[in-house]
Amino acid sequence: MKKYNFNAGPTALPNDVFKFSAEAIKEIDKTGLSILEISHRSEKFSEIITKAKDLALEISCLDKNEYEVLFLQGGASHQYLMVASNFLNNVAGYINTGTWSEKAIAEAKYYGNVIEIASSKNKNHTYIPNDIKISEDLDYLHITSNNTIFGTQFHKFPETKSPLIADMSSDIFSRKINFSKFDLIYAGAQKNIGAAGVTLVILKKELLKKNKRKIPSILSYQNHVDKQSLYNTPPVFSIYTCMLNMEWILKSGGIDMIEKNNIEKAKLLYNEIDNNEAFHGFVKKSDRSNMNVTFGINDNYNSEKFNEMCSKNNIHGIKGHRSVGGYRVSLYNAISIDSVRILVEIMKKFNKI
Ligand SMILES: Cc1ncc(COP(=O)(O)O)c(C=O)c1O
Repeated sequence: MKKYNFNAGPTALPNDVFKFSAEAIKEIDKTGLSILEISHRSEKFSEIITKAKDLALEISCLDKNEYEVLFLQGGASHQYLMVASNFLNNVAGYINTGTWSEKAIAEAKYYGNVIEIASSKNKNHTYIPNDIKISEDLDYLHITSNNTIFGTQFHKFPETKSPLIADMSSDIFSRKINFSKFDLIYAGAQKNIGAAGVTLVILKKELLKKNKRKIPSILSYQNHVDKQSLYNTPPVFSIYTCMLNMEWILKSGGIDMIEKNNIEKAKLLYNEIDNNEAFHGFVKKSDRSNMNVTFGINDNYNSEKFNEMCSKNNIHGIKGHRSVGGYRVSLYNAISIDSVRILVEIMKKFNKI
């Protein structure tokens, strides 16, 4: 039996993505070839990547004339380095909301000065800093829109005149966002976009002009734009799954519907955490993430028993990150409300034991 998969990523993808990508491994679109063996310079792949780029812009409501879409390798982690190597000429601002922001900051320091504009470290990243004062002479301001590990999420983005750059790895395409506020966004595919192995980057063409440093080709956004994401052999299969997943998003009613479902799932689970005496949430309520829900079991309740009940009921991937402990339930787009209901039922039963 298929498990209810609440992993933080890689994680569950929509059934259509599993079905069509499995078929394409055998043969893609009656070409007599598997998706795994086609050339990245073939007409078929050109069709796939073009469609994937168009879908990314369509979902984000961004204009082709203003934005470039790239599919790159190296994960979101590689973007920490690329962003700084391309655009950190003097000083950049970072908002530190947890582990991933800290990693981004560490990489940026190889290239220039970094100001930590605000940080939630004083309370173990259980909130999102607000009332942030931003000096205007930054090369860019970098945020992590959703804190996958601690379970916080920006529900309002900082206002800045500097270019705004976001690591959206764990909440891209999960909610309505004014993407045009951002100059560059990036996201590892393995949560809400597709199979691991590829990173989606959407950047403003104007931003490219701010690159002043001579950098190696593999790090250069301009190079990847010029080569249309084919500078090195791209992860053909992962990009295909991204295309399928973005098609699914639009077929499922687009971001409006996706957001509605995600809010419903998160409400259901947070409601149980708040009303069930056996559990408590970890983060400030107003900053809770709708993608990664973190919580703990109260004293006097037996976590071993809860784990056993979950495992017996095919619940998978809810162990909290090692730096936080407790539980983390990831509610990415492909997770159905029914799987959340099953988990909530178990939480209710657990409290009654
Ligand atoms: C917000 C965020 N940023 C970055 C990463 C790292 O991504 P990658 O493994 O693709 O480098 C993760 C991974 O979970 C993440 O959640």
